[in-house]
Amino acid sequence: METVLRYVSTLSVASQTILVASVFGITAYYLLHKRYRLPPGPTALPLLGNVLSFRGTPLYQKLAEWSKTYGPVMTVYLGPIRCVALNSTEVVLEALVKKQADFAGRPQTYSTKLLSDGGKSIALGDYHATWRLHRKLATKALRLYTSGNRLELRMTESLNKVVEVLKGIKEPVNPHLYNSLVALNILLGVCFDQTYAVDDPMFKKMLSTFDEFLTIFGNGPLEDIIPPLRLCPTKRMKRMIQLFDEIFNILDTFIVEHRKTLSPEHIRDFTDSILLAQKEAMEELDEATMSKITDGHVKQTIADIFGAGIDTTRLTLDWTILYLASYPEVQSKIHKEVDQVLPKDGTMMLSYRNQLPYTEAVLHEVMRLSSVVPLGLPHSTTCDTKIGDYDIPQGTMVLLNLWMMHHDPDKWTDVEDFKPERFLDETGAIAPKPDSWLPFSAGRRVCLGESVAKPELVLLLAGYMRQFKISLPDGVKPDFEATGGGFFRTPKPFEVVFVERD
Ligand code: HEM
Repeated sequence: METVLRYVSTLSVASQTILVASVFGITAYYLLHKRYRLPPGPTALPLLGNVLSFRGTPLYQKLAEWSKTYGPVMTVYLGPIRCVALNSTEVVLEALVKKQADFAGRPQTYSTKLLSDGGKSIALGDYHATWRLHRKLATKALRLYTSGNRLELRMTESLNKVVEVLKGIKEPVNPHLYNSLVALNILLGVCFDQTYAVDDPMFKKMLSTFDEFLTIFGNGPLEDIIPPLRLCPTKRMKRMIQLFDEIFNILDTFIVEHRKTLSPEHIRDFTDSILLAQKEAMEELDEATMSKITDGHVKQTIADIFGAGIDTTRLTLDWTILYLASYPEVQSKIHKEVDQVLPKDGTMMLSYRNQLPYTEAVLHEVMRLSSVVPLGLPHSTTCDTKIGDYDIPQGTMVLLNLWMMHHDPDKWTDVEDFKPERFLDETGAIAPKPDSWLPFSAGRRVCLGESVAKPELVLLLAGYMRQFKISLPDGVKPDFEATGGGFFRTPKPFEVVFVERD
């Protein structure tokens, strides 16, 4: 010890300071690791964390690869942000179902705070009393909206518009635009009682804004993980903010108009429902709670429905068409089923869904294989908690690898094969949901639109199949590789031929 002290005394003041700081830092690091038994993970670089390792590989795939070395629960660093990734059915369900509230937070990053007006959104807001109140109001409003036949009418109208256009196209065509038109028109109907003609300039403008946002979002903004960039944001970040403003300006116009014309006896759409829920809550609740239901919150809730509903729905439809065009024998079985249930024309009733088990099974299988939101939305821990024997400190970002659950060979036989029958029981009815199928996630943050999306997608698929036989152009082989960043799984651009059925 004496020798060490003598050596230190020979160093310059600067070197002594660095030495003391290093010893202090290492001790603090050691103590933290003693207190928390964190999950293992790949070695992280200072500040950059593990980001260099998943350049060129989507994060969900890299996590799946790493889980072979580190197990299903692992620590990774997105820049300086510590994340725990959950990569198996057992650990995802432990977090979402057994320890619901512990894992119900949302990380408040630079970009989410910016885009959600300081966390006022349901999808991006953290888990607290105000958030719970708004989630409850939105659930109530959506239930109120779907209780009548409005959704069926909107769906039929939106699909018919696109079907008429597709009937006139005889050559191969990329279905993305048409699926986007269906998805956007349904949500415009749900939220604002509006549908547009497919060539309406305003409609096209909205679509191109959503498309550009989908393309540039990629893996999310660099500003979240490299804080100094916030002082001089990247071009991509600036463009994202611009696009977001454009979307909000459009939503604002609709909301202002709805406020002026709201009539509690005549609820037209989700916006009316949420405005009514806001009005009723303000009449029933105390002043403190009322102050939490601001117009800013209402705007964010409507934006949530749009933001969370459009890309998920249209990408699921894109993948479905790709799989159906590639598996004509599956398509024939759907044709047989829908011909017995759906009239060629007329409203698509939600009650048809129960008579379309094979069609629904096809959709479940497409959702499993495509996993359009492979990591769901990131969660964060609301308190110090555990997964298995590992400690997960409060405020840790948690990634749920839904893609990995859907591609786990221990849970699914012939995991990469397209086999809709796996979702049916021996009588041909839909079997109970397998634990490893979780495209809408689970627990406190389960997709708020699940009750709309599921019947809607079954009926849209049935509606397409009632009208068309879809095939790949002659000589074209299907490509099921995904493209885009790791946030959404998007099929590579492809073309199909829509042939009108007799
Ligand atoms: C194929 C269709 C859809 C899929 C696969 C899907 C999937 C998801 C997933 C994985 C999440 C994240 C859940 C979590 O944080 O654990 C989510 C959240 C959400 N979804 Fe969906 N979704 C779909 C359609 C919709 C639709 C049509 C709507 C609106 C009507 C919607 C509204 C929302 C909202 C508001 C959230 C945020 C919930 C929260 O943070 O509490 N989704 N969705």
